[in-house]
Amino acid sequence: NVPTILLCRDIPSTLLKNAEEKGLIQIIRRSEDGPAPKEWIRSNITNANAIIVTLTEPLSEEMIEAGKKLQVVSTMSVGTDHIDTNAIQKRSIKLGTTPDVLDDAVADLTLLLTLAAMRNLSYASRIVQQGQWSKHPWSPLAFCGPSLRGKTIGFVGFGNIAQTVASLMLMFQPGRILYTTSKPKPFDIQSPDFSRLRERASASSDIEIRNVPDLQQLAKESDVVITLTSLNPSTKHLIDEKFLSSMKRSAYLINTARGPIVDTIALAQALESGQIAGAGLDVLEGEPNISSEHPLLQESCRDRVLILPHIGSATNEARQAMADLCVKHVLDQFSVSL
Ligand code: GLV
Ligand code: GLV
Repeated sequence: NVPTILLCRDIPSTLLKNAEEKGLIQIIRRSEDGPAPKEWIRSNITNANAIIVTLTEPLSEEMIEAGKKLQVVSTMSVGTDHIDTNAIQKRSIKLGTTPDVLDDAVADLTLLLTLAAMRNLSYASRIVQQGQWSKHPWSPLAFCGPSLRGKTIGFVGFGNIAQTVASLMLMFQPGRILYTTSKPKPFDIQSPDFSRLRERASASSDIEIRNVPDLQQLAKESDVVITLTSLNPSTKHLIDEKFLSSMKRSAYLINTARGPIVDTIALAQALESGQIAGAGLDVLEGEPNISSEHPLLQESCRDRVLILPHIGSATNEARQAMADLCVKHVLDQFSVSL
């Protein structure tokens, strides 16, 4: 009797393909692509021993309760805010996530967004796309923004991804790296990975890396604030009006974690009033239902914010590794080996 897996949408996993071809698992799959409708999950979850979801398939307590035979829930994501994890624990169902394999991809994009926001890429690229280049010819101060060199970077959350961003940023010789964290993890600047980067960024050998437990203090001191923490009741709107008004007027906010960590209305106001200089966002409260009426997309804000549609982990390599790891959690649960 092989385990039955409810596959909510296609994922790029060769592991899954091999296991199915060898008849080691049975898959219930949809005929269409895209997010799985709730009704489809509900009508199939009762027969499943395992379910594979992504960020687009929220799993409520009621849904998990309906999965009477469920032994494992595996999500192709590092975040679990779309899943009622208490309900899973209550039933002693195993929860699989995909940490580590996406660290490089998300760190790369975080660095990219930081540089892009500071160098006004949103505005600059719009000028060219709209055929307006001739109205904005090269001029000594046009499109200028600050350099990362010598600046203070403040991380809200300092887990593996944030630490990878910090190590990449050493190349850009920031002045200081500050962080606040709910789960203190030692930052091993002497580890082989980081020392390689330090050699290449010679001026960074004496860089100050310091824990600043007080969030407002971090806001005050940072030239760039990067949020890389998970979403939970204690981090919802962590970046609110109070935090934003503590930031420097020349500072930037980068969010590559979860949209609701930032109070969007407060951010739009801070950008409009010039309370902060700019923002780079890969995630947004209410995504993906963001219409052109969104406050951040209005003329008063749009040139000071660069928004991407949640593509942090979107390298071919990371997504394949995430898919395989997500499937491996399921196969391990049923001791299926290929
Ligand atoms: C992406 O946002 C993830 O949680 O993997
Ligand atoms: C990680 O998520 C942290 O809060 O440090």
